[in-house]
Amino acid sequence: MIFESPTNPITKIADVEAITAAAHRHGALAVMDNTFGGLHQHGEFAVDIFLHSLTKFASGAGDVMGGALIADAGLVRELRGEFTLFGGTLDPHAAWLIQRGLKTYFLRYREQSATAMQIAELLSAHPAVARVHYPGLATHPRHALAARQMRDFGSIVSFDLAGGAEAGRRFAEALELFALTASLGSTESLVMAPQMMGSRELTPEQRRTAGITDGTVRLSIGLEDPDDLLEDVTYALDAAGG
Ligand SMILES: Cc1ncc(COP(=O)(O)O)c(C=O)c1O
Repeated sequence: MIFESPTNPITKIADVEAITAAAHRHGALAVMDNTFGGLHQHGEFAVDIFLHSLTKFASGAGDVMGGALIADAGLVRELRGEFTLFGGTLDPHAAWLIQRGLKTYFLRYREQSATAMQIAELLSAHPAVARVHYPGLATHPRHALAARQMRDFGSIVSFDLAGGAEAGRRFAEALELFALTASLGSTESLVMAPQMMGSRELTPEQRRTAGITDGTVRLSIGLEDPDDLLEDVTYALDAAGG
């Protein structure tokens, strides 16, 4: 059974204990994409395989691509042969960049989470914003579950602009400190406008299930000065209009 938590892009929270128990009841492995949660979270659960995009928080600089599968040694040995055959082998330079990035992982993740919380609170109070998705907010529908499962709520904040796709485009273009790109977890803040939100891969039904609206924007909060980011987001919200 494969799942993720928080989910991309709306930060829905999965009940990790319930899902792993259900997988095991049916004789399946519980496989969790833990990229949003990060390398220090969810380890206490009986997840069989954690998947991580190392492209994101592990390297932190947004300058390398890689992935990791974390499981017990026997399972890793079984899977390694197939991974090698499919070409899933990091080149030495990429591996070195990721190892170097890992040394500052905790500091970055925690600082980025703290700023993300401030941005989520700012968004929640702004009239142009219909809804904010951030598991650290008490208004998140599964905040209590997130608080039980997570130590830090992550650097991804999504929200729905009341003005829809056009407002989302104006917002993304008005930001000065956020790069307009699809990755996340890097030291630079990034924004995904509604026009970039999986419209090619997802059917309208799948978008609804994922919780994506025409005005959904995803922010990945970086390590810039929090006050500068708050000012930039405030300015862009005003530019987006209601
Ligand atoms: C939750 C999650 N898992 C996996 C990936 C894939 O990562 P990569 O870009 O390293 O292939 C992404 C990319 O956005 C992601 O958001």
